[in-house]
Amino acid sequence: MKFFMKVFMPVVLSLGFIFSSVSAEEKTLVVYYSTTGNTKAVCELISKELGADLIEIKDLKNDPDSIKKAVSGGMMKMKKGGAPAGMKGKMPPMSKLVMDTDISPSNIDFSSYSRILIGSPIWMGKLAPAVNKFLDTNKLDNKKVVLLTTSNAAESRQRQETYKAVVKKSGADVAACYQIQVKNEQKANRSMEELLSEANGLVPAIKAAFRSELPLEKTLIVYYSRTGNTRAVCEALGQELSADIVEVKDLKNRMSTFGIIGGMLRTFLSMQTKIFPEKIDMTDYSNVILSAPIWAAKVRLPCVRPSI
Ligand SMILES: Cc1cc2nc3c(=O)[nH]c(=O)nc-3n(C[C@H](O)[C@H](O)[C@H](O)COP(=O)(O)O)c2cc1C
Repeated sequence: MKFFMKVFMPVVLSLGFIFSSVSAEEKTLVVYYSTTGNTKAVCELISKELGADLIEIKDLKNDPDSIKKAVSGGMMKMKKGGAPAGMKGKMPPMSKLVMDTDISPSNIDFSSYSRILIGSPIWMGKLAPAVNKFLDTNKLDNKKVVLLTTSNAAESRQRQETYKAVVKKSGADVAACYQIQVKNEQKANRSMEELLSEANGLVPAIKAAFRSELPLEKTLIVYYSRTGNTRAVCEALGQELSADIVEVKDLKNRMSTFGIIGGMLRTFLSMQTKIFPEKIDMTDYSNVILSAPIWAAKVRLPCVRPSI
């Protein structure tokens, strides 16, 4: 017994220390705010997939029931031109929304977490007031953070950069920002099943973002699309890979009958067409994806030319 205590106990204790410090180092927290349930549902799924703890932030000044009522039944119209992208002139009465709000819990002990996923709906083109308050009142120094927003409209990369900048102010190292759009192209609500399936699809990218010690490698997607199929695929891929996207446009109108016949002929004869942009600076990118439809049994790739 004495021999065991002397020889094995230090080993057992140090192994215990190593394992506990490894798990503390890798512990993940998902913290979110949600009024109508979209962000809640996707964050619940993602926290399960990541094996993360989950905390819901409550907004103490914006009453969820009156917001839900405004969203589901006759939303009040805003003045012309005042509605943010995606809302198409309809939203809950702004006068009733409190942008400088209070939240519960007001302080969270993050000491055991190194990775935090923050889930927020977009309100008036910004992170929800409760999430802004959370970022104002909590210091996230040395925490690797992934931001996940849900919104009606598609968020541009530029817009996502503004959200990331807000998160960075809390001291966090923002590894990535993802968006789930809750409306489809016809502006109808996507089903919860679709949202959850998209959230599930984001899990590998979120894991990779959390794992990366260095800034993520930059990826560029360059595509040409006539009818929008290639565009839709590239936009989804771009979001998944956090890639920048450039659309190459054919300066000839390829939507008319003559346009498409001319395009087919040029493709068949391997002739080029006038494009915009003519030149793309790819020096910042380590990965470049080119995407294009097939025309006349060839890849329609007007962007492939010596100038690019
Ligand atoms: C007060 C309010 C403001 C909103 N503003 C925007 C907006 O500016 N742009 C947008 O695309 N969606 C906007 N939305 C839609 C929400 O971002 C979207 O429905 C989100 O998924 C809601 O998340 P939740 O269900 O977790 O509350 C707004 C919704 C509300 C209630």
